[in-house]
Amino acid sequence: MEIIKAVFNGKFDSLENIQVSPLSRAYTFSDSVYEVVPFHNSVPIAYKNHINRLKYSANALSIKIDLDEISNEINKLISLCTSTSGYVYYQVTRGQDLIRTHIYSNDLELETFGYVTPHTFKTKFLKVMVCKDLRWGRCDIKSTSLLGNILTMNEAKEQGCDEVIMHNENILTEAGASNLFFVKDGDICTPALSNNILPGITRQILIDTMSDLDIKVYEADFTIDDLKNATAAWLTSSTKGIAPIEEIINLDCNLTQTDDKYLIAKQAFDSKFFSKRSF
Ligand code: PDD
Repeated sequence: MEIIKAVFNGKFDSLENIQVSPLSRAYTFSDSVYEVVPFHNSVPIAYKNHINRLKYSANALSIKIDLDEISNEINKLISLCTSTSGYVYYQVTRGQDLIRTHIYSNDLELETFGYVTPHTFKTKFLKVMVCKDLRWGRCDIKSTSLLGNILTMNEAKEQGCDEVIMHNENILTEAGASNLFFVKDGDICTPALSNNILPGITRQILIDTMSDLDIKVYEADFTIDDLKNATAAWLTSSTKGIAPIEEIINLDCNLTQTDDKYLIAKQAFDSKFFSKRSF
């Protein structure tokens, strides 16, 4: 089996050698934030955006982080990877309590953890299910508290699905581990950012790429009915890139993968995402 390279509190080792205390607040409270940074040709993709989002998430939880140190560790992990294509998972936890307590002490020592793994960004065609969004009110923070996502995604897996599309009282939010786009009446649409959605880096790359082509992406509150009338739909994430949806098992709609706007978006996005230049 491949040895996964990792780093824990600044010390590089193989993943299997890393040990964490059960009193780590990551373990007891999910009191942690994280990033998934993709790389291609050994170059991180949209690196600054990931670092800025990590800063935003950490600030939201009043966790103070050293971005230079984290950057060095992420770059070193990429250089240690056996493949030139993959992603780094990086997590910052508030620290370890002396005994479990909801109210944290301000002088806990941060716990940082990252690993790198090869990954091929092959286009996957998805089967998804529409589900109620069970999550909390700050989904804009990339925290490791993901139980709502886990419950719905595994319920959908039981139905043979790869992902879910979630909604809050009929307003579409996002997928379990990706953002949602669809084409309706020839327009590319995506749910507007709010506290109920993670501001996906891949989502923003796609919106910027479309803007370079003078194609507007409509960001608004959309409903399940809007999705029902879509001619194409896809999910975006750092590990999926753009992944087209073939079927929504509990929604009567007719999605194609030959829709003009989808094909333009996919082609332009892929050439930016996998370009040799870093951005
Ligand atoms: N997930 N929404 C949610 C809930 C996510 O977990 C993710 C990413 C996204 C897309 O964000 P980005 O384009 O920045 O990757 C949207 C990562 C990949 C994960 O948890 O593994």
